[in-house]
Amino acid sequence: MLRKYLSRFLKNRAMRTGRGAGLWRRVARPSAWEWAEYLRVRGGFQSFGDNCFILPESVFPDPALTVIGNNVWIVGACLLGHDGSVIMLNRAYSRKLDAVAPVVIGDDVFIGRGATILPGVTIGSRVIVGAGSVVGKDVPPNSVVVGNPARVIRTLDEHVERMQARTETYPWHDLIEQREGGYDPQLEPELKRRRRAYFFGTA
Ligand SMILES: CC(C)(COP(=O)(O)OP(=O)(O)OC[C@H]1O[C@@H](n2cnc3c(N)ncnc32)[C@H](O)[C@@H]1OP(=O)(O)O)[C@@H](O)C(=O)NCCC(=O)NCCS
Repeated sequence: MLRKYLSRFLKNRAMRTGRGAGLWRRVARPSAWEWAEYLRVRGGFQSFGDNCFILPESVFPDPALTVIGNNVWIVGACLLGHDGSVIMLNRAYSRKLDAVAPVVIGDDVFIGRGATILPGVTIGSRVIVGAGSVVGKDVPPNSVVVGNPARVIRTLDEHVERMQARTETYPWHDLIEQREGGYDPQLEPELKRRRRAYFFGTA
């Protein structure tokens, strides 16, 4: 009860004033939908679209140089708008160097766990960036990229067809057909049971 109240208080304060967001994130663990809404309203981004899902552990050191489209999912990735090595160079070489560039993310993009997007990269619309990828060059629309350096492995259209074929091989396919969205508490126990039986032979 107290936790719920505190959580609501911290959220409201962060959304209204932009203050205390770090505390809200640590103490109350906002959902990825809530965090995206906070970033959209208060994050100081160049622009930020609708219907985004951003896990709070995602890192955006340069929001003013970052553009986020609509329906963007970032699950613990890092989007860099600067190259911090110049600060080391400035000391070592007594220079006044700077190295910054925008990061632009189109619509309908999923950026996987642990991926890093380097300064100056534009990711087109309808793209998946695989977990752990390091993206240093622009990514064309309608593509799936993986690895370091990230490379295109297929178009997103092809990927969807592969996913469709794979989904149809699962013995719980009928439950997925019934499900609205990504989680249904009614169906979840049966879904979990069938998945365990399929992969481990245990009910
Ligand atoms: C990118 C992704 C969607 C591709 O999935 P997939 O279609 O099942 O991939 P495939 O198994 O067909 O892999 C194709 C090739 O890419 C490689 N690959 C796939 N994902 C990769 C990744 N993240 N990093 C490096 N290589 C990867 C595979 O090893 C394979 O290489 P090969 O052709 O040399 O054998 C998936 O691997 C991924 O990274 N999803 C994001 C997961 C995530 O972040 N989840 C967070 C939970 S919310």
